[in-house]
Amino acid sequence: MENQGTRDQWGSRIGFILAAAGSAVGLGNIWKFPYLAGENGGAAFVLLYLACIVILGLPIMIAEIVIGRHTEKDPVGAFRLIGGGRWTIVGYMGVLTGFFIMTYYSVVGGWTLGYIVKSATGAIGSVSGTAMSESIFNAFIQDPHQMILYHFLFMAATVFIVYRGISNGIEKWTKVLMPMLFIILLILIVRSVTLPGAEKGLSFYLYPDFSKINTKVVIEALGQCFFSLSLGMGAMITYGSFLSRREKILSSAIQIVTLDTLAAILAGMAIFPALFAVGMTPEKGPGLTFNVLPVVFSKMPYGSVFATLFFLLLFIAALTSSISLVQVVVTYATDEWKWSHRKAVLTAGTLIFLLGIPAALSFGAMKDVKIFLGNTYFDFMDKLTTIYMLPIGGMLIAICLGWKYGLEKTMHELDPDTKSASLEKIWALTIKFIAPLLLASIVGYFGIYRMIR
Ligand code: PFF
Repeated sequence: MENQGTRDQWGSRIGFILAAAGSAVGLGNIWKFPYLAGENGGAAFVLLYLACIVILGLPIMIAEIVIGRHTEKDPVGAFRLIGGGRWTIVGYMGVLTGFFIMTYYSVVGGWTLGYIVKSATGAIGSVSGTAMSESIFNAFIQDPHQMILYHFLFMAATVFIVYRGISNGIEKWTKVLMPMLFIILLILIVRSVTLPGAEKGLSFYLYPDFSKINTKVVIEALGQCFFSLSLGMGAMITYGSFLSRREKILSSAIQIVTLDTLAAILAGMAIFPALFAVGMTPEKGPGLTFNVLPVVFSKMPYGSVFATLFFLLLFIAALTSSISLVQVVVTYATDEWKWSHRKAVLTAGTLIFLLGIPAALSFGAMKDVKIFLGNTYFDFMDKLTTIYMLPIGGMLIAICLGWKYGLEKTMHELDPDTKSASLEKIWALTIKFIAPLLLASIVGYFGIYRMIR
């Protein structure tokens, strides 16, 4: 745990896989993916998404883990070793992205905590319609005290786990939390698909409509796959840096990616059948989760039990992602500045808490404070990181590894898995050419259109 002497390591391969899958499975899977799929062609979108995972997500996932294990360093140290000079900036950008994402991620994490309380105490058990649940939600996110309190509690939970270290904290907790997450998901699916009228939801979600696939949808799927797999900012470099040399990277990466995709697809199967069964229509992101679903739960038997489980699911998903974000910052401070682990965790936690306060107030006291092109602080941080920083980071990671350092020097990292020259060639081709191009297209497309909208 302390930085002197040996570095902490994952105790087992499954520990690493669950921690990395925990980072990947997050708010992006549960509140964004189902909606994107439902709206953009159902099963056709799912197929497109799978293609994005194979073509872009998996190769970059492998690249990040390879860089991490190869260098055994935080992102800044890693890029100093494989790129040197100006390339070190890629590492700094990653650490900064971790900070920025945390500012709003922790706020939403706080909402999930607030909604666990609201569900368990019956405060949202009897909402009669969306108007009522909307007003409960709006009152909640406009209340500065509750927002800051829950943001604080969520940060405290994150810091608590990161504080205990890699094997004693993150690994131990994700080994409990990830199975729990999948069990809750399965319980919710069984409840959802057995409600009368559930088929309509399943067919909305999964009916393949290829006519909905256009350039925007393709780019949307690429961006979603990147965010969902926690790529582009060195989270997987950091986690990979604690991976023992004995472990296989390729097969671990495949398992992480599979778990993430499974969680995303299953989340939709829990949400849409229930939604349609009670005669409601889908809405996007926060609206769907916090305005519409409470109404759905209030209309089913034992709704408050299922509502509590659902928000617990969302909380676990957010928590196991935020610990990876904080770990990036912490590893930077312990590796680069030789800070003690304790000092790094407490300082990072405090700073993120403070930087998150404007995000926590972005729907109430600070809703009229626009940072850039009409965006609140919360929206600005969200767009800045997902549209620009992550894809640009991913692009530079691929270019640095593929062109500056040279993939040959890292191929032995893949050796225990594969001696197949053609697999290695495909990976090299993707890292050098395909991934940078695809990532540039995300920045180009959304950078121009979405920031202004
Ligand atoms: N993968 C997380 C999600 O889908 O919500 C978000 C995330 C976590 C992005 C960690 C980046 C990261 F480093």
